[in-house]
Amino acid sequence: MDIQSLQKKISEELTNASTIQSVSELELTYLGRNGAINELLKGIKNLSLEEKKTAGKNINSFKTFIAAEIKKAKEILYSREDRTLGVDATLPPSADESGSLHPITIAVNEITEIFNKIGFIRMSYPEVDWEYYAFETLNMPVTHAARDDFETTFLSGSADKKMGKMVLTPHTSNGQVREMERLKSTPPVRMINIGKCYRPNWDATHTPMFHQFEGLCVDKEITISNLKGTLDYFVRSYFGENTEVRLRPHHFQFTEPSFEVDITCTVCKGTALAPLATSQVARQAKCKICKSGWLELGGTGMVHPNVLKAGGIDPSLYSGWAFGFGIERVNMMKYGIDDIRNYYTGDIRFLNLF
Ligand code: PHE
Repeated sequence: MDIQSLQKKISEELTNASTIQSVSELELTYLGRNGAINELLKGIKNLSLEEKKTAGKNINSFKTFIAAEIKKAKEILYSREDRTLGVDATLPPSADESGSLHPITIAVNEITEIFNKIGFIRMSYPEVDWEYYAFETLNMPVTHAARDDFETTFLSGSADKKMGKMVLTPHTSNGQVREMERLKSTPPVRMINIGKCYRPNWDATHTPMFHQFEGLCVDKEITISNLKGTLDYFVRSYFGENTEVRLRPHHFQFTEPSFEVDITCTVCKGTALAPLATSQVARQAKCKICKSGWLELGGTGMVHPNVLKAGGIDPSLYSGWAFGFGIERVNMMKYGIDDIRNYYTGDIRFLNLF
């Protein structure tokens, strides 16, 4: 059969083919080892050199034509057919986007697991809570700056005599006394409270809603050494083996003494120098991320006796420590992300990095 009649034939056959299977069979009939194209090629061996050239060219472009028609037919059928009926592994992958967990969810899971391993249980406490748990039991008097409506979002409604007003929790520390109450004021307490927090800020390092994880440990003879050991364990698990922790004196109403926790910069590894610098001048340049070799992680300290008392625990018998760190913040530090708003703009290009 000549090319023209073959072309007519396959066009008809492809129009009639209603399954991917039947198109694949046609593919074999025409393009397979013993297919029509190879038959045509065999047929040219007795032709003169000139004739061979034109015939070869024609056969080849016919072959390209068939391949394209077959691909087209398959794609049309593939998009039409129930995929469970006909999966053709020879087709190019479809461009469907697959979903994935949000980076904050991934971080929450990772942090939960790190603390589970050392006996801390994950808790979730209200995101809309009474002033009593958000401030009062944390030794924060009504006059404290954070209780201003400039810093904290209050819900409308009248105040309860003991509980005060309701607020969007500005930190996860509201879980501290709630957890002591849940355990009927009976240590040991080993909690990791993960939740959403709300503060009215929006810039490269603040979003009005963010996440914190709050560690709380109360037992007999708990000291700063236990705190430091736990922080060492956490930062090595989360940021990498060589990460160092430093405690700096600070102030919180609900801890005494209080500290800010720093870790060695994840970019310059604590050297304070710009990494990957080659020239002598550049080698003396400061790391842009930390400038000092250290990055601030968040707040911590030994639980204030008044907080233990508010949770019904006798501070003369028990002691404890607490910390509260931002999830977005630790994730930004881990991956060198410089704008927290990336987490909440829904840009697929950013989300695909995780
Ligand atoms: N609640 C503090 C904050 O949000 C962090 C903190 C928690 C500090 C526990 C000390 C102890 O900044």
